[in-house]
Amino acid sequence: MTRIAILASGSGSNAEKIMEFFKNSTKAKIALIASNKSDAFVLERAKKFGVPSLTFSKKELDSGILLEKLLTEKIDWVILAGFLLKIPAELIRAFPERMVNIHPALLPSYGGKGMYGHHVHEAVKAAGETQTGITIHLVNEHYDEGKIVFQAATPLVPEDTPETIAAKVHELEHRYFPEVIDSLL
Ligand code: GAR
Repeated sequence: MTRIAILASGSGSNAEKIMEFFKNSTKAKIALIASNKSDAFVLERAKKFGVPSLTFSKKELDSGILLEKLLTEKIDWVILAGFLLKIPAELIRAFPERMVNIHPALLPSYGGKGMYGHHVHEAVKAAGETQTGITIHLVNEHYDEGKIVFQAATPLVPEDTPETIAAKVHELEHRYFPEVIDSLL
């Protein structure tokens, strides 16, 4: 059984879809939800699914304490689902080709430092893009530059706001992220 940890900083709607998808799987198990925010709603979602969770500080992330916990829990794959801190190189190296991130835009556009969550949708709106989408990629030591494994696009209209863009992107994420993870394992 492949053991998956999900790292999330916020609401965790993607984490929930992933927990739902793998709930009765014989192939993989969501073994841990880990968050850098002690009040993140993703922790409530973990409870609902009976998935163990933990929180950690930036210091614990950077000093290798989170990595130790992941190794203790015998985690095979790490999924970043709305995780907003930079992952230390040591942690990335511990999960070669086994760490996946979802980005709420069509990389290489709208990626890089500072491009997360609503910042991305605001930039897409400001540029007058006619489409946006999602990118699922392996994580390497450069922000948003790992190998792209999946992208899906959605059209935008001039009336779209950053909020409606976010909703369109979330819909794509929820539809595709769990099955793309499943296909990677
Ligand atoms: C998602 O849209 C995800 O793509 C984005 O944060 C949101 C989290 O939503 N991630 C990033 O911006 C990372 N660069 P959720 O907490 O409801 O899953």
